[in-house]
Amino acid sequence: MATLPEPIRNPEIKYSQLFINNEYVNSVSGQTFPTINPVTEEKIVDVQEGDKADVDKAVAAAKEAFKMGSPWRRMDASMRGRLLWKLADLIEKDRAYICSLETLDNGKSFSSASGDLDFSLEVIRYYAGWADKIQGRTIPVNGDFFCYTRHEPVGICAAIIPWNYPIPMFSWKFAPCLASGSVMIMKPAEQTPLTAIYLGSLVKEAGFPPGVFNVIPGYGPTAGAALSAHPEINKVAFTGSTEIGQVIMASAAGSNIKRTTLELGGKSPNIIFADADLDTSVAFAHEAVMDNMGQCCIAGSRTYVQEEIYDEFVKRSVEKAKQRTVGDPFDSSTVNGPQIDNEQFTKILGLIESGKQEGATLQCGGTRHGDKGYYIEPTVFSNVDDNMKIAKEEIFGPVQQIIKFKDLDDVIERANRTMYGLGAAIFTKDIDKALTFAHSIKAGTVWVNCYLAVNAQAPFGGFKMSGLGRELGEYGLQQYLEVKNVVIKVPQKNS
Ligand code: NAI
Ligand code: MG
Repeated sequence: MATLPEPIRNPEIKYSQLFINNEYVNSVSGQTFPTINPVTEEKIVDVQEGDKADVDKAVAAAKEAFKMGSPWRRMDASMRGRLLWKLADLIEKDRAYICSLETLDNGKSFSSASGDLDFSLEVIRYYAGWADKIQGRTIPVNGDFFCYTRHEPVGICAAIIPWNYPIPMFSWKFAPCLASGSVMIMKPAEQTPLTAIYLGSLVKEAGFPPGVFNVIPGYGPTAGAALSAHPEINKVAFTGSTEIGQVIMASAAGSNIKRTTLELGGKSPNIIFADADLDTSVAFAHEAVMDNMGQCCIAGSRTYVQEEIYDEFVKRSVEKAKQRTVGDPFDSSTVNGPQIDNEQFTKILGLIESGKQEGATLQCGGTRHGDKGYYIEPTVFSNVDDNMKIAKEEIFGPVQQIIKFKDLDDVIERANRTMYGLGAAIFTKDIDKALTFAHSIKAGTVWVNCYLAVNAQAPFGGFKMSGLGRELGEYGLQQYLEVKNVVIKVPQKNS
């Protein structure tokens, strides 16, 4: 990992327009929307607001870029890989600026934005390597036929991404899409449009032909809905709330049965057994739910602790939460910045209030931090019951729920009693317990004695209402490919 560059406290906003056909353009309506700095609650800049007419323009550009015989379709696969590498190099060169832009727009600490960027580089370079290794098969079918498959690019893809990890979400969608030979129209979240817009300029500089990557900033019910319903878009890749995931899936089905990948909410259980190393498990459990101010789909937001160590675990978790520094995200000593916006801030404080009312014990935090910006104190609840709202709903804030359990059978059943199935973790030195848990839990990722270990090479996604399909790794690439079967009659000679 590269050393942390110096942040730029007031990064220049170089672009705030739509990016279509490798050019920055105003929206058709000429309307704009403000993007807000969550530290000051003030406007950073007005951004051009895309809607259906702009989506139509981007689709036309993407269609032209993807048509047979276009420079993109005729490009050698190895060259696609080289362009992806080139883009990663350009992003790396510009990391101080890009991470500063992210910190300004999102409020996450500069070091956290840098971590996001480093991981995104790994993802882009991982998929760069795949570009010329996408191979079909030859299949020995019955009869006199030569039968083979082609793994073809799925076509025009829409990416609708959230505000919690803007740069990683760009890379998770952009890289497998472009490695496959498909083309993309991305709608960044209205809270954090600036980095995706800027990255358009680097995509162009890397040498991607016009129209293969387009950015339409705007709101969900307008620009987002126009993408998921567009009859000429072949696939939609979405990360966000379960509620909107359902809306997008219905819209994708109704328009043209788009290929759909959904990465949605979670309420991931993190199980700590009495035989686990206490310091390690306290530290991981804390980070699992506080990282990125709790704004993480796979946050370990149900900390189940075995009864023998419960009180000591709560005590140490509270100490950790009190030590977590909250402040200016550009300051190198800051760990937690503000929540993303007033809506999230209000929702989190409301859930904290419900926890108090339903009888959980508020051990620390529970209130706003300071009097400006969407800051919330790191919060720990003990004596949490499975049926409380704070144990069931996704809080998406720095709020830890510590719940008591007895034994393995009890905790597996309770851990699975949720509509979600994104992540799960277990801390124990007993391999039998770890394996029984790993194979019984309904979740897309299971961690043993660790948390938040997400890798470019390995699949990520959800069971149940946490999503559909997988991202990252080879499984993630498959979601951008259509399999075509070609069958050729082979003439037979009798001799
Ligand atoms: P959201 O699901 O509304 O927004 C995510 C993206 O979807 C944004 O780009 C938004 O503009 C777009 N969108 C919204 N409505 C749409 C529609 N009708 N059609 C197409 N696109 C649409 O999430 P929001 O409102 O930002 O947060 C609400 C909750 O969702 C959070 O409190 C959190 O619990 C969860 N969430 C989960 C995320 C994850 O990583 N899985 C990320 C963000 C939020
Ligand atoms: Mg929403």
